[in-house]
Amino acid sequence: SLAMRQDILNLLGNLPKKTRDLLKAGQKVADTLGYSVFIIGGFVRDLLLLTPTQDLDFVVEGNGHAFAQALFEELGSGQLTLHEQFGTARIEFPDETHLDVAGTRWEYYEYPGALPQVEESRLRDDLFRRDFTINAMALAINSEHYGELVDFYGGLRDLKQGEIRFIHHLSFIEDPTRILRAIRFAERYGFQLSKETLEGVETALKAGVLKKVSIERFTQEILLMLHEKHFPKMGESLVELGVFEEWFGEKLPWNFARVAENENLTLEERWLISVSNFNFQETEQVLGLKLTKELRKETLKFKEIQAILYAQPSLSLAVLDQQLVGVSQEIRSALKWDPVLNEAVSSYEEAVAQLKLGVNGKVLLQFGVPKGPEIGNVLKEVRLAWLEQRIHTSAEEKEFVLRLIEQRRK
Ligand code: CTP
Repeated sequence: SLAMRQDILNLLGNLPKKTRDLLKAGQKVADTLGYSVFIIGGFVRDLLLLTPTQDLDFVVEGNGHAFAQALFEELGSGQLTLHEQFGTARIEFPDETHLDVAGTRWEYYEYPGALPQVEESRLRDDLFRRDFTINAMALAINSEHYGELVDFYGGLRDLKQGEIRFIHHLSFIEDPTRILRAIRFAERYGFQLSKETLEGVETALKAGVLKKVSIERFTQEILLMLHEKHFPKMGESLVELGVFEEWFGEKLPWNFARVAENENLTLEERWLISVSNFNFQETEQVLGLKLTKELRKETLKFKEIQAILYAQPSLSLAVLDQQLVGVSQEIRSALKWDPVLNEAVSSYEEAVAQLKLGVNGKVLLQFGVPKGPEIGNVLKEVRLAWLEQRIHTSAEEKEFVLRLIEQRRK
């Protein structure tokens, strides 16, 4: 409707200048080439949700490469890549954002005299192939139609109702990763799966479609979830729907509840805390995923330290210092969220924060400590004395150090 178009024009007008400039350039090129051009997918969804994103997906009713080439020249910045095989193109910008272009006509002469109806049905086909109604809306950018919403499948209605709805019944069979995408979008926006969509997910899972998903793609979806603030809810949905059990062949004791208690965790912290209840064999299971090298390394290190600390008869500051010096902030944080270790690691962290170590290797050399391992040994003792509050001031520290050197000489 006209009111709707005006609303959208307002939303577009409020976008950052960079995005508006991209749209303006797209419009100019579209008008010049005489192509109908649309922005499609996530950008449209997030614009309507008032959480605009930067990455633009253009769908061009015409030759995508010709459009991308002309747009690239119009912008005069970025780097253009043409993918011959798919007829798609991407322009990457220095600030790491990008835009994608897909043409509905791959060969320039494929449909030389295409009728408008044919063209429209191609946009409809493109949208039909997508996952959910909220991701299958397009926004016209030609000057004559600027800001008109193309919404064949009720995406706007579903945005308003807060529903994730598939476009056709075979969606999850065709692309089972959409099961995880459905959960990701639902929890990100606080939406529900529509009744039929949920049934579609359950049917697909029962049919064993996850077996068709490669470990790389499955992991990729998990990592995308880890980036999200509502990761714990996504994890719990995966458990509830039986996705994890199906994938790993057993129920794992995920600890999403504890992740949910703190909103300000980093991606690594979310992951480590999620697996903090796993034993070694269960940890091996999740390490079968194609996680990033860093995440894999941190997981192993975390589990190793956790096991060592569990095995200690008492968690003295000395023991903790021995294990935790040099360990990443992420691992320490995950250890602190472990109910068994919480108290001890918290007190340790407090003690470390109070640490006012005055001596260093150079000072010890001046005091006559010989070069070599002895320097490190003495420093460790001084550090521990601070942690255990046997010393409180630099005067006490000096006295302590001199006495220590004296004792160790004997
Ligand atoms: N898409 C799909 N099926 C998939 C992956 C993607 O139908 N398995 C479609 C959706 O229409 C989606 C578009 O491709 O909107 C772009 O995909 P992607 O960039 O992964 O998603 P966005 O919608 O941009 O979501 P995000 O905000 O997570 O980037």
